[in-house]
Amino acid sequence: MQFGYFDDQNREYVITQPDTPLPWINYLGAQDYFGLISNTAGGYSFYQDARLRRLTRYRYNNVPTDMGGRYIYLRDTESGEFWSPTWMPTRSELEDYTCRHGMGYTVIASTKADIHAEIRYFVPPGQTLEIWDMTVTNKSDRVRELSAFSCIEFCLWDALDDSSNFQRNLNIGEAEVEDGVIYHKTEYRERRNHFTYFACSEPILGFETQREAFLGPYRGWENPQVVENDQTSNSLQVGWSPVGVHHMRLSLAPGEKKRIIFVLGYHENPIDEKFFPPGTQTLNKNKVRPIIDKFLKPDAVDAAFSDLEEMWDEFLEVMQVDTANPHVNRMVNIWNAYQCMVTFNLSRSASYFESGIGRGMGFRDSNQDLLGFVQMVPDRARQRILDLAATQLESGGAYHQYQPLTKRGNDAVGSNFNDDPAWMVLSTAAYLKETADCSILDALVPYENKPGTETPLLEHLERCVQYTLDNIGPHGLPLIGRADWNDCLNLNTFSATPGESFQTTTNQDGKNAESTVIAALFIMAARELAHIKRYLKKEDEAAKLEKDADAMVCTIHKYGWDGDWFLRAYDHFSEKIGSKTCAEGKIFIESQGLCTMAGVDEEMAKKALEAVRQHLATEHGVVLLDPPYTSYHLQLGEISSYPPGYKENGSVFCHTNPWVMISEAILGYGEQALDYYLRICPSNREAISEIHRCEPYVYAQTIAGKASDHFGEAKNSWLTGTAAWNYVAITQWILGIRPDYAGLRIDPCIPPSWEGFEVTRRYRGATYHIQVSNPGGVSKGIRAINVDGKPVEDATLPVFNDGEIHQVEVVMG
Ligand code: GLC
Ligand code: GLC
Repeated sequence: MQFGYFDDQNREYVITQPDTPLPWINYLGAQDYFGLISNTAGGYSFYQDARLRRLTRYRYNNVPTDMGGRYIYLRDTESGEFWSPTWMPTRSELEDYTCRHGMGYTVIASTKADIHAEIRYFVPPGQTLEIWDMTVTNKSDRVRELSAFSCIEFCLWDALDDSSNFQRNLNIGEAEVEDGVIYHKTEYRERRNHFTYFACSEPILGFETQREAFLGPYRGWENPQVVENDQTSNSLQVGWSPVGVHHMRLSLAPGEKKRIIFVLGYHENPIDEKFFPPGTQTLNKNKVRPIIDKFLKPDAVDAAFSDLEEMWDEFLEVMQVDTANPHVNRMVNIWNAYQCMVTFNLSRSASYFESGIGRGMGFRDSNQDLLGFVQMVPDRARQRILDLAATQLESGGAYHQYQPLTKRGNDAVGSNFNDDPAWMVLSTAAYLKETADCSILDALVPYENKPGTETPLLEHLERCVQYTLDNIGPHGLPLIGRADWNDCLNLNTFSATPGESFQTTTNQDGKNAESTVIAALFIMAARELAHIKRYLKKEDEAAKLEKDADAMVCTIHKYGWDGDWFLRAYDHFSEKIGSKTCAEGKIFIESQGLCTMAGVDEEMAKKALEAVRQHLATEHGVVLLDPPYTSYHLQLGEISSYPPGYKENGSVFCHTNPWVMISEAILGYGEQALDYYLRICPSNREAISEIHRCEPYVYAQTIAGKASDHFGEAKNSWLTGTAAWNYVAITQWILGIRPDYAGLRIDPCIPPSWEGFEVTRRYRGATYHIQVSNPGGVSKGIRAINVDGKPVEDATLPVFNDGEIHQVEVVMG
């Protein structure tokens, strides 16, 4: 069952009924100013940091769900009837409804009582504001008198404090209203130099800045007293809960349209120009007023919207494909790339499942997100790598998370997730393969943000690799620390205390438990670094790294192989995890994928993938482990805290599936690789939206596994490493268009039934138009390549850097 459809031409998903199984959301803004918006206009906005600079309020886990957002109320003066054109919050019955989620914008439209309203929400590129561009049309044949009310609830900046510290917060709220613009300025009188404003292009009849004055006592957003009575009180906020409400009257002739623009924005004043006139406590509006005036004008709004569209044209043009499968085309060309931008921007901070107050930017997460983003805006990727490196510890370890506003490591979570450092080598390698910009290796970066500790980035990478060598366990495999990629395999936690954090509690010395996942990551990282060294003509150092990688391969052969698949780990007592000998958790997906990708051993890899097919693959994707743990195990930690089939305990943890797709492609099984791809592909699952329940246009972190009663139900959509890894799997390994140090490498692994496909890829200053044909019906292998009509020997295309389009013909066989 579907709740909408894809409009690929317009790069939109069109939702046709408001009560989707869960709120289906989109993101506004691509840098600095961000908003989350659901298909019924729920959500909130923030500047840079969802916790520390939250602009509007949102109550997670609320009932009814998704109450609170960017709301408009329309009221028919004659009948007194009022409704929300976005369905929420009044949930009145609408004659028609659509929500179009597009690239950085959302348009919600509906009709009620012959009044059509359409609101387009977006953030103009480069601005710290959002626009609500509303058009109201009278579709009836008589004059209609209407009232319109806008409504937003302000957050007192620190979202955690805002939802907990009421003894203070109910006393500090402050607002100003001038010329119809509502300014939210809580704490501006003291240490803040920033404020939020909410403006509207129509002259207003009245306003509210006090929530209770708007809603009325004991009322909710669905029936505000002010809307019901059509009467504002011009409340001026002190204390309690600041809101922004404008009231305006419209008189529409039959067929007449009226366009009203709202601007909600964030602004900072220089510290010494906070107040105007000087000596008062009045907010200085001199710098912000011109910005507001500009964006209240339709021309500026239209121009900004074209800029947004052009920006996305440019981002998406980097890679466009035309294959035999419409889901592949749609995901690669539009939605997967889009989700990669969102995960790059937000890491795991703010979604409808991540509250924005929990996690900041994750070290391993952001490094992996880069793998799917680097081609879109390499400069931002470069800066991100340097920011991440600046949170690295001198030991080579890393802060597990950092706050985007301060860019500082998060002390509460600390470090010792022993896989973290390896990912930074892989993200830097991806950056080099895309750009060949070796200057990044010389960039001076501090450790723990401490001035005076700077070394070139290259040394950071060396320390990443050395960190694993410094933390080796009894079998010669890397020590796991608090956890490796699997945050829930907490082999040193041993927690029996309710509520204690699995992630940060350590009740063992950490000198025993080992991870084959880190072993595989180490091999990949050491080999990448060797490659980089060779590129820099440091042969000896490269050879040493290769030797270390080879030694780790031997260790996996000896202690990391279970006979039919790769072991997952050794626990604190040196007992095997992910082995035939275990009662539960006999086989894990991560080590099968990553050890194959690390090139540990082809024969082993073949067996391991066979075991994945046999034990882990399901119609809804490949589960993380089998059988799931049915009881809590002190020595395993959080993984065994989840009921069977959920999260790390045997759901389809989508992040890991592309590792298996890539592995299948490495071994040449194109049919199987694409089959796995399609099982979790959101667009391919659109038809079962009533089962999948999350958005059909983006990946979710998990799909409930076979052990769950809700097998196939997705959760935790949007912010997941699944986005980057699936993008890598489909573009670089299945379609096989793979950036490498020397240039763009062509190495497809497709279903034999595909007759070919086409790709346009912008790469290192030129555009490659690649036509692949598969006359012999093979999965893998290349018979010939012509570039601009001339045969080339190498499957790595020449680097042109000439701003031209080059024709590449590839014949498989
Ligand atoms: C979450 C975390 C990620 C971790 C994964 C598996 O997605 O953000 O860091 O690797 O779970 O536990
Ligand atoms: C829980 C989740 C895991 C996530 C971690 C982050 O352990 O199961 O997916 O990475 O929390 O703190």
